[in-house]
Amino acid sequence: MRIGSVALDHRYALAPMAGMTDTAFRRLVKARGGCGLVVTEMVSSEGLVRGIDRTLEYAEYTEAERPVSIQIFGGDPGKMAAAAQVVETMKADIVDVNMGCPVPKIAKHNAGCSLMREPAHAARIVRAMTDAVDIPVTVKMRAGWDGASINAPSMARMMEDAGAAAVAVHGRTAKQSYSGDSDWELISTVAAAVAIPVLGSGDCVTPQQMVERSRAGVAGVLVGRGALRNPWIFQQAAALAAGREVREISLAERGRFLLEYIDLLLREGLDETGGFRHRAPGMARSRPPRPARSRERWVVNKLRALGSWYTKGLHGGSQLRTAINQADSVEALRAIVSSHFLELVGDALA
Ligand SMILES: Cc1cc2nc3c(=O)[nH]c(=O)nc-3n(C[C@H](O)[C@H](O)[C@H](O)COP(=O)(O)O)c2cc1C
Repeated sequence: MRIGSVALDHRYALAPMAGMTDTAFRRLVKARGGCGLVVTEMVSSEGLVRGIDRTLEYAEYTEAERPVSIQIFGGDPGKMAAAAQVVETMKADIVDVNMGCPVPKIAKHNAGCSLMREPAHAARIVRAMTDAVDIPVTVKMRAGWDGASINAPSMARMMEDAGAAAVAVHGRTAKQSYSGDSDWELISTVAAAVAIPVLGSGDCVTPQQMVERSRAGVAGVLVGRGALRNPWIFQQAAALAAGREVREISLAERGRFLLEYIDLLLREGLDETGGFRHRAPGMARSRPPRPARSRERWVVNKLRALGSWYTKGLHGGSQLRTAINQADSVEALRAIVSSHFLELVGDALA
């Protein structure tokens, strides 16, 4: 599968998820195989253009994640074009526009899913971006703003005309947020309406669903929450699609994933000269590392966020979730993870 000039090894992609798809998580998912593309958390176009440290941090990625798409949000064509140029200077493979976020804080700034209420303005944004950069510009949208204004097929055509190289569609309206089901029939209609690749999104929580839905006329499938519960889902779907056996993931592996995540997060941002980060030239200001205590707090909070998804459906998952939520240090988290995933005890200490 291709998105413009970018070739993807697999038709399955990690969906953008604010607060979740940080560079550490993306690397861990990618390393497990089967994932053709990773997308960052949404990044503010305003913050990128102004070179705000925290914003730049959200946009950082490593070589191991390629191909990588940086998702930006905003409602101003000029700023979105300038932000796309920052993304291009950072040497990301793709720049994606968020037209799906239903959160009022974003939507009220004429960004996110509110752009689906102003298709002509949305098209101006995409046109300004495609005129400004050579890398592919893609758009992630919803079914529409609400049930009375489902317009993903016509929006997708307009985005294609404005130069978008692909669109992704989450088959729910902004009004629905996450209630009801993602409408894969509508997603197929969008795929039939345009010549560019369409990626479908919503409710793929098993490798079987991914394979089935990737046959519904779409070029690819984005997986969000399913990957937070099971980061091996891409590897499993790729195996299934190739007629190979789907490998069961052991408890020890599941535990090791969390321990590795903790380790990567602890190292995050410390290496200012290691050369694995991509920042726009001139923006590589010397940001002081987070102080140890606030770093630890940040890691604890990140683990709580992932834990709320990762523990779903696991044996003893709710006790594990509670224990993770109560842990207030990295040491406590490591001990909880090691003792929950029993086989790990010897393993982790070895
Ligand atoms: C915690 C969370 C954060 C999300 N953040 C973003 C985001 O930043 N940008 C975006 O386009 N979609 C975002 N989404 C939507 C997902 O990319 C995806 O379209 C949606 O969750 C449906 O797919 P799923 O059922 O596989 O999770 C987010 C979803 C979740 C659950």
